[in-house]
Amino acid sequence: MMRFSPFQLAALLAIVPFLHASTLESHFGDAHRLRLQQHDVLPLGWTTLGCYTVDNMRSRVFQTELADNQNVTIESCITSCAARNLELARLEHGVQCLCGDNIVDGVLTAPDSDCRMHRGDNNIEARGGLNRVAVYASRAPPTVQTTDLPGQWQYSRCLAEPAPHNVFPYHINLPGNNSAQNCLSQCSAFGYPAAGMEYGHECWCGDVADITNNGGTTAPESDCTMACSGDSLHLCGDGWRLQLYLWSGTLNNWGAPANIGRYEYLVPGLVPPLLATVGINGKVSFLEKFSSSEFQNSTGAYELDLSLVNDFSHAWREMHVKSDVFCSAAVVLPDKAGRILNVGGYSQHLTSHDSTFGLRLYAPDGSAGVNGTNDWEEDPVNFKLQSRRWYPTALVLSNGSVLVMGGENGANGAPSPSLEILPRIPGGNTQVFLDWLNRTDPNNLYPFLHVLPSGLVFAGYYNEARLLDPVTFATVKILPNIPGSVGNPLAGRSYPLEGASVLLPQRAPYTDETTVLICGGSDSGGDALDNCVSIQPEATNPTWVIERMPSKRVMPCMVALPDGTFMIMNGAQQGVAGFQAADDPNLSALLYDPSQPVGSRITILNSTTIARMYHSEATLLPDGRVLVSGSDPNGYDPPKPSKFPEELRIEVYIPPYLNEGLAQPVVTIPSTDWAYGGQYQINVQLFQGQTSGMRVSLVAATSSTHGNAMGGRTIFPAFSCSGNNVCTVTAPPNARVSPPGWHQLFVLDGITPSHGVFVRIGGDPASLGNWPALPGFNLPGV
Ligand SMILES: *[C@@H]1O[C@H](CO)[C@@H](O)[C@H](O)[C@H]1NC(C)=O
Ligand SMILES: *[C@@H]1O[C@H](CO)[C@@H](O)[C@H](O)[C@H]1NC(C)=O
Ligand SMILES: *[C@@H]1O[C@H](CO)[C@@H](O)[C@H](O)[C@H]1NC(C)=O
Ligand SMILES: *[C@@H]1O[C@H](CO)[C@@H](O)[C@H](O)[C@H]1NC(C)=O
Ligand SMILES: *[C@@H]1O[C@H](CO)[C@@H](O)[C@H](O)[C@H]1NC(C)=O
Ligand SMILES: *[C@@H]1O[C@H](CO)[C@@H](O)[C@H](O)[C@H]1NC(C)=O
Ligand SMILES: *[C@@H]1O[C@H](CO)[C@@H](O)[C@H](O)[C@H]1NC(C)=O
Ligand SMILES: *[C@@H]1O[C@H](CO)[C@@H](O)[C@H](O)[C@H]1NC(C)=O
Repeated sequence: MMRFSPFQLAALLAIVPFLHASTLESHFGDAHRLRLQQHDVLPLGWTTLGCYTVDNMRSRVFQTELADNQNVTIESCITSCAARNLELARLEHGVQCLCGDNIVDGVLTAPDSDCRMHRGDNNIEARGGLNRVAVYASRAPPTVQTTDLPGQWQYSRCLAEPAPHNVFPYHINLPGNNSAQNCLSQCSAFGYPAAGMEYGHECWCGDVADITNNGGTTAPESDCTMACSGDSLHLCGDGWRLQLYLWSGTLNNWGAPANIGRYEYLVPGLVPPLLATVGINGKVSFLEKFSSSEFQNSTGAYELDLSLVNDFSHAWREMHVKSDVFCSAAVVLPDKAGRILNVGGYSQHLTSHDSTFGLRLYAPDGSAGVNGTNDWEEDPVNFKLQSRRWYPTALVLSNGSVLVMGGENGANGAPSPSLEILPRIPGGNTQVFLDWLNRTDPNNLYPFLHVLPSGLVFAGYYNEARLLDPVTFATVKILPNIPGSVGNPLAGRSYPLEGASVLLPQRAPYTDETTVLICGGSDSGGDALDNCVSIQPEATNPTWVIERMPSKRVMPCMVALPDGTFMIMNGAQQGVAGFQAADDPNLSALLYDPSQPVGSRITILNSTTIARMYHSEATLLPDGRVLVSGSDPNGYDPPKPSKFPEELRIEVYIPPYLNEGLAQPVVTIPSTDWAYGGQYQINVQLFQGQTSGMRVSLVAATSSTHGNAMGGRTIFPAFSCSGNNVCTVTAPPNARVSPPGWHQLFVLDGITPSHGVFVRIGGDPASLGNWPALPGFNLPGV
C-alpha cells in the first residue's frame, strides 16, 4: 500500500531533500536562498508540488546519481536530469543530484510547514525538516477534477482511510492510466456507486455504506495531492487518502417488494441429489452419486411423487442405476415418452465397467399417487459414450440429435476437450476436438450451451464465449470475453468457478434478439462474483451488459418461472464449487425480471434458513412452486465432514405470484403433440381477469445440475381467444427458435400461473424413440 505513483508526467519533477535545516544553511547558503526568493526561484515555469516525507531516502530508486558537486543547485540538478530525459530529480545532502523516473515505497505527503515552504507568488522558500523533501514540477499543481466526469459521478471529498485498512473492497491497479474517467467508469460499469483514486495509480470501488462501515473520515483537501497516473492535471488521492467520488442517483435499483414469497419445508429427502428433473409424469427424478456416496444405503436414483409429500413412506420410489452418475449431465429427450437421458459419470474404483462412459435412460411413468414401474436402463458394455466424461453438458440440437460436450476423463483428470453426437454416428471416432476447451481446462466444466434462433450453438465456458456451426461445430464467431469482477477479468462462470446460465424468454413473432444471461461465478482466488452478465450473441456487435447483484454468489441455481422471470437461488458468497471449497452461504432468493430496464431487473425475495451450496438444485414444479434440494458440500471417499451438513431436507419456494392466495387458473389441452407453426386449442378457466389480459408461456423441460438447467428455454407463443375459455396457441415456428422437445404450457391469469401441462413440440426428428436398438431397452417410438 505504501507506494508512490511512478509519475508519468509530461513535466519533470524535481525533488530536493533537506535533511536538516542546518544542511540547507551549510550547503546552499544564503546566496542560494536569496536567489530563490528573487526569481520565481526555479527554472522557468517550475513550481512546487508540496512537501513529502521520505522514511528512508537512501533506499529510494534513483537510478542515476551524478557526481558530488559542492556547487549543485536545485536549478542545475533539474537541468541535469532533464538533459538525461529522466522524469525525477532529487538533490541530496546538498552535494548529490540524483535523477530517476520512479519513486517507490515510503513517500507520503507532509504539511507544507514541515518544509517551511511558502507557496505562491515570488516567494518560495524551502527548508526540509528531518526526512522531508520539497517537490517541484514544471507546471501548475494538479487539481481535483469536478467537471466532465463520466455518468452521474460527482466529486465528494478527500477521504482518509484507517490505515492499514482500506475503505472499499474492490481494487484496480492502473499504473499508467488512472484517471477519474477510467476509474469511475469502471466502478459504475460493475455497479459500484462509490469510488476513489489513491496513490495516483490505484482505483477503488464500493458502496457508500463502506465509507462509514470501514472507518473512512473526511480529510483536509490539502491531504490529497498526488497526480493521477494517467492524468497529470488532476488529483488521484495520496497515501491512505482517496479522492472520493459518489454516483448521484440510484445505480442499482434492486426491488424490495412487500410480497417476497416464502420458503416452506416440503418433505424429508433420502439423499442429497445432484441432478433434479421434473418428468412428464409430473414427478421429480433425482440422481445422486452412488458408489461414492456417504450414504451407502443409496441406490443413486429416486423419484418423488409430489402428491404424497405428506406421506413420507409412500412419497419416494427407489430406482436403480448400474453405474455412478457423479457428476453426469442430463436432458429430457424429445421422444414420445420424454425419456431422461443421463450421460457421463464417475468411476473411482474401476470395476467391470467405467461409469464415465455412461449412458442411462428412464421413461417417466406412473401418475400422481401411483408408482411407475419403469426404471433406469443402461448397458455399460454396448451403450456408451466415445470419451470418458465427468462434468459434461448435454443439449438437444435443432435436428433432434443430442450434443454432449466437454468434461474430464475422470475425477480431476485430463480434459475431454471434444464433443460427440448421440445417437452415435457410425464410423470410428466421430468426436470433434475443441482446442478452446483444451486450452481452458479445468475452468470450463459443465459448459453453458444454448441453441440460438440463427441455428448456431452458443458455448459459454470459463470467461469466454463463442458461437458454433451446428453441423461442423467450427467456431463461427468468437464473442467478447465475459467480464469478471471489477478488479479481475479472469474470473469465470463455469465449474469450478460456477455461475448459472439461462436464455431469456423468446416472444412471438420471434424478431427480437435472443439474450443469454449468466449470473454469479467466482475468481480463481475464490472471491464470488456479484454480477449477472448478458449478451445478444447474434447481434452485429455483441457486447456484454453487466448488472450487479445485491451480494456475491457462486453456485447459484437459476430457474425459469412461468411468467418469464427467473429465480436466482442457493449458492455461497465465498469460494468455488466442489467439496468444502465454499463458505458463507447466501440464503436469500433473488428474482430477475427481464421485462424491466437493465439495472432495475433484480428484486430481493425471501430467505431460507438452510445452506444450499455444492450439489444443490432448484427446479420449477408443474404447480408453479420451485423445488429446492441439496447440498452435499462434504468430501467423499472417505467422507470428510464439513461445517455444512449433507442436506437431505427438501423445501419449496412459493414465488410471489402464488403467495397472495389467488386461485390458479386452469388449463387443459386436448392435443399435446405439436408441430412447428401448428395451431392448437387450449381450454382455460380464469379466476381474476379476462383472456384479453392472459399470457401463455412454454417452459422447456430441464435437467438441472451445477448451475446448468440443460434444455432450458422460455417461449411466449402467439395465441388468440374466442370468448373467455377457448384459445388457440400457435406453436413456435421452427427448430431453431425452439429445438424439438417437451415444454410445460402455463397460462397466466394476471400474475398467477396455472399448473403446467406438458406438450411436445417438433416431434422426434432424430428418431431417439427408437434408440438404442439393444436388448434391455424399452423403446417408446418416435
Ligand atoms: C564550484 O564553484 C567554484 C567557484 O565558482 C569553482 O572554483 C569550483 O571549481 C566549482 N566546483 C565544481 C565541482 O564545479
Ligand atoms: C489501463 O491500461 C492497461 C494496460 O495498458 C489496460 O489493460 C487497461 O485496459 C487500461 N484501463 C483503462 C480503464 O483504460
Ligand atoms: C418469509 O418467509 C417466512 C417463512 O419462510 C415467512 O414466515 C415470512 O412471513 C416471509 N416474509 C415475508 C415478508 O413474507
Ligand atoms: C440412508 O441413511 C440415512 C442415514 O441413516 C437416512 O437419513 C436416509 O434416509 C437413508 N436413505 C435411504 C435411501 O434409505
Ligand atoms: C412406491 O415405491 C416405493 C418403493 O420404492 C414405496 O416405498 C412406496 O410406498 C411406493 N409408493 C406408492 C404410492 O405406492
Ligand atoms: C491440449 O492442451 C495440452 C496442455 O496445454 C497440450 O499439451 C496439448 O498439446 C493440447 N492438445 C492439442 C491437441 O492441442
Ligand atoms: C444433427 O447434426 C449433427 C451435427 O452435424 C449430426 O452429426 C447428426 O447426424 C444430425 N442428426 C440428424 C438426425 O440428422
Ligand atoms: C444474500 O443475498 C442477499 C441479496 O443479495 C443479501 O441481502 C444478503 O445479505 C446475502 N446474505 C445472506 C446470508 O443471505
